[in-house]
Amino acid sequence: MKTRGVLIAGNWKMNFTLRETGEFFAKVKGDAAKALPASASSAFATGRLRACVIPPMLSLGRAMEAAREAAFPIAVAAQNAHWEKKGAFTGELSGPMLQELGISWVLNGHSERRQYFGETDETVRKRTESLLEQGFRVILCIGETREEREKGRTTEVLTRQLSGALPEAGKGAAKFLDGRLVIAYEPVWAIGTGLTATPAQAEEAHATLRKLLTDRFGSEAASHTPLLYGGSVTPENADSLLACPNVDGALVGGASLKPESFLALLAAGARACAQS
Ligand code: 13P
Repeated sequence: MKTRGVLIAGNWKMNFTLRETGEFFAKVKGDAAKALPASASSAFATGRLRACVIPPMLSLGRAMEAAREAAFPIAVAAQNAHWEKKGAFTGELSGPMLQELGISWVLNGHSERRQYFGETDETVRKRTESLLEQGFRVILCIGETREEREKGRTTEVLTRQLSGALPEAGKGAAKFLDGRLVIAYEPVWAIGTGLTATPAQAEEAHATLRKLLTDRFGSEAASHTPLLYGGSVTPENADSLLACPNVDGALVGGASLKPESFLALLAAGARACAQS
């Protein structure tokens, strides 16, 4: 039973110029009717099926304009945002800048930010706290490396990253866990490698995350928190991953860049919603 519905989010990473952004939306709009099953329209209308794209900073405004004209609701998320609202932080962008564009979603703590740009559990937590406080929906990314998995440390790493990135329970954090916080489990070894976690591995990690959330914030808050799987998700493996009870959607890189495969992923989401 997909009690939290299904969210399909396409992380474009550092891909697509302004022109390509327009072309992507135009193709998705043109092909949606034939690519999506009939059940998709009611799933979108009730909010059980949700689509999101996460373009680079420069394309956010163009993506928002195009999303307003789309054939079905498409949320636009930023790939990152600073915890301060303004100031001397060269290269960053802030919540108020996004709000002016009408953007209410932000990705946070992606492993590429941690790996290449010095993001730590501490900076990820500051972003989570501030952005939730400012009213954003936050997609928080966590996941173990191949070495950590091989050493049997997956649960330990997920526990550290999750508790390090979330506000303390005692600070009234449960009030934020109303569905605005989304957690994406992205094993680093599966990102861009073609090595997907098996449905059993994904479900095991997601069940661990659900339990960690329950222990810290209570079952009500935990049950409202969508958990996405990310790492080499494709239209071919999406159905089996989305069939897992604790997998509430997918965060997709490479396969989200082609309009036809983005639509195919949404079709898988619509099927998963229809089965429950
Ligand atoms: P791929 O789907 O290309 O493996 O990327 C996953 C990812 O990092 C999404 O944020």
